[in-house]
Amino acid sequence: MILLSRFFIIDLFIVRLSMACKIAIFNMKGGVGKSTTAYNLAAGLVQSHNQRVLLIDTDPQGHSGAALGLPIWEIQAQLKDVFQGQISIHQAITSTSSGVDVVPSNIQLAEEEIPISGRPGRERLLQKAIKSVTDQYDFILIDCPPNIGVFSVNALMACDGVLIPVDMSYLGLMSIQGIERALKLIREELEHPIQIVGVLATRFDKRNKLSKEAFESLHEHFGDQLLQTVIPETVRLREAPSFGQSIFEYDPKGNGSRAYKVILDEVMVWQSRNQNVQH
Ligand SMILES: Nc1ncnc2c1ncn2[C@@H]1O[C@H](COP(=O)(O)OP(=O)(O)OP(=O)(O)O)[C@@H](O)[C@H]1O
Ligand SMILES: [Mg+2]
Repeated sequence: MILLSRFFIIDLFIVRLSMACKIAIFNMKGGVGKSTTAYNLAAGLVQSHNQRVLLIDTDPQGHSGAALGLPIWEIQAQLKDVFQGQISIHQAITSTSSGVDVVPSNIQLAEEEIPISGRPGRERLLQKAIKSVTDQYDFILIDCPPNIGVFSVNALMACDGVLIPVDMSYLGLMSIQGIERALKLIREELEHPIQIVGVLATRFDKRNKLSKEAFESLHEHFGDQLLQTVIPETVRLREAPSFGQSIFEYDPKGNGSRAYKVILDEVMVWQSRNQNVQH
């Protein structure tokens, strides 16, 4: 009996360990570096940490898939088809040369927003859809659109944690209130206990006083939740997608690469802490 229960515990442990850590990259403000963070982290987790990573694009702009070299206007299967119930998430997965598996999107996803909004259980469609693949990945990263519409809500409801890129600008700081309201809605109204993986200062220009002031304001507000490493404003990060490459491939020794490497480590630490909490 004791032996049996030991096996059961070990079994449970293995099952839990093989569940993907799910992280949404979210901010309601546009242009803060959500997609840049999502696809670079995804590629880095595969290439530097040997992780199995699925990147899901819930933004009809389709930038995550495009940046990893997918021809998003010609894709055969995409997230929209999963929401429509036409295919399983498994059938919507495309592999990329970076080693990251992607569930891509394009503008057709936008046409699904109104139909989905009227469906019962609309907030948990993605949470349900990814259940069948969580044991096949170490990480599932979800890139969000710049709003708190039905796709962002689905992304947040499907995830254990949220990484929040905030750009170093006055409007960037203004976005914080909206983000906190959104997370309150997820936690209290929808009863989903999502955690903050970290707040990430992006587009940091060290020559600019505003960047330093914005970083200090973020620190006052978020304390330890603000990641100490900032993502610098660098043209290399802007150029990399046009080669279908991550920053680690395009400019491995540059500032952008160095900064995102530290964030990769932070994400790995969060994953192991999160797994320990689950046990
Ligand atoms: N640190 C950076 N330095 C220079 N350019 C950057 C940086 N981060 C992002 N960019 C560029 O800024 C633009 C917006 O970035 P990105 O698409 O990642 O933001 P986003 O938050 O996903 O935007 P959206 O809300 O529209 O989806 C892109 O052209 C990107 O290449
Ligand atoms: Mg984006």
